[in-house]
Amino acid sequence: MNYKDALHHPIFKIISKSAEELQIESFVIGGFVRDFLLKRGDAKDIDVVAIGDGIKLAQQVAKNLPNKPKVQIFKTYGTAMLRHDDIEIEFVGARKESYTEDSRNPAVENGSLVDDQNRRDFTINALALNLKAQRFGDLIDPFNGIKDLENKIIKTPLNPDITYSDDPLRMLRAIRFATQLGFTIEDKSLESITKNSDRIKIITNERIVTELHKILESKRPSIGFLLLETTGLLKHILPELTALKGIDEVEGQRHKDNFYHTLEVVDNIALNTNDLWLRWAALLHDIGKAPTKKFSKKVGWTFHGHEFEGSKMVYKLFKRLKMPLNDKMKFVQKMVLMSSRPIVLAEDMATDSAVRRLVFDAGDYVDDLMVLCEADITTKNPKKFNKYHNNFKIVREKIVEVEERDHVRNFQPPVSGEEIMNTFNIKPSRDIGIIKEAIKEAILEGDIPNEYDAAYQLMLETGKKLGLKSNIDL
Ligand code: CTP
Repeated sequence: MNYKDALHHPIFKIISKSAEELQIESFVIGGFVRDFLLKRGDAKDIDVVAIGDGIKLAQQVAKNLPNKPKVQIFKTYGTAMLRHDDIEIEFVGARKESYTEDSRNPAVENGSLVDDQNRRDFTINALALNLKAQRFGDLIDPFNGIKDLENKIIKTPLNPDITYSDDPLRMLRAIRFATQLGFTIEDKSLESITKNSDRIKIITNERIVTELHKILESKRPSIGFLLLETTGLLKHILPELTALKGIDEVEGQRHKDNFYHTLEVVDNIALNTNDLWLRWAALLHDIGKAPTKKFSKKVGWTFHGHEFEGSKMVYKLFKRLKMPLNDKMKFVQKMVLMSSRPIVLAEDMATDSAVRRLVFDAGDYVDDLMVLCEADITTKNPKKFNKYHNNFKIVREKIVEVEERDHVRNFQPPVSGEEIMNTFNIKPSRDIGIIKEAIKEAILEGDIPNEYDAAYQLMLETGKKLGLKSNIDL
């Protein structure tokens, strides 16, 4: 089979010529070939394998390119990388590789193309295209990866126990590809992942998080999280989620399974947003329910304060996984903390003041919060489902109305602390806080408009009640 079309970019002719000058063979391999065959568009990452010195080939290619790009060399891995236009090309010499038990010190020997293909993760990632001029575009596919692509199967070239123990991250990669591409993982592979799941512990958090992001960014993230759970990987990576599994029953009262509920919420939100962090918020919105779960005879199952508990857990989880403890983390925390607020509004007819408070507390995140809460509606009762959605529509309309009228999003007090001090001729003190709070509360309750004159008047009245003398009285 020939796939010249995949190699239409002029860079491939340059790599071919460079390899010929060094009298070595070279091939394009891995994700680039896979994505071309899946028609996923032209990949921007190209992996080239040389039957010889990959670093030398990279240097020769750089020499043959008009702008002589810099070659980045990774000595420990024997690889080199260069950038050309918006493409990143990685070069590696074909290797025959075996890893030691802790997977940190691969014993590397030079090998043939098949040796190299053997040590790759999946048959669909081991497809190679020849770059040699006479064979340009010829497919080399010793494990029938083409058939696996057609049948949508994820399968390892070698015995899965060997492939996964060579690099346990591949267990996550298998699940990630299954989620992204809608493929099925071969049974033998699934069994091996299940058997070896605790080996994921030797993988760095950074590499794990990259795969989690990719699962979350897929069309139906639940596919991945279900596989993570059934193979036993999830309890090592996100025990906060496995803790949500199960339904307890006391005196005939049951609560819903919050793990499966969470997965439904994540799939729902994936239909409405591509924002990775909002998807994370959906994944974590109920994690506080495991530690707060209680049963009482009077009210049945409760999860009091789970939003607050959950937002604290978000910080610990991000820290453990070495995810950035920055604005993104704070955003996820805020979403988790506020995740029940709009639902409460949607249960009843929302009053203006309740909506105003929601906008005030959520600030710029109010729209994201609404997207999260709509995704949270997973009831199978069509009557309730419609009621919640209709009420949310009303809440959304009210948000716009309240916003136009009251401007409480990113609320700035209409009367400043300084003005209060000047008016009553006082120094910084508790009274200033009391006056400010009274003004804010009156605005949120709708007792006064969010305007200077009304706020000024209320400042005078509140000050008077506190026994303060204003300079107007003097
Ligand atoms: N590979 C592997 N084992 C890994 C990672 C990568 O065998 N743990 C091989 C596969 O052949 C893979 C290639 O290296 O196709 C390139 O890896 P990478 O760029 O990480 O992934 P892609 O397959 O290109 O896919 P994606 O860009 O979606 O991650």
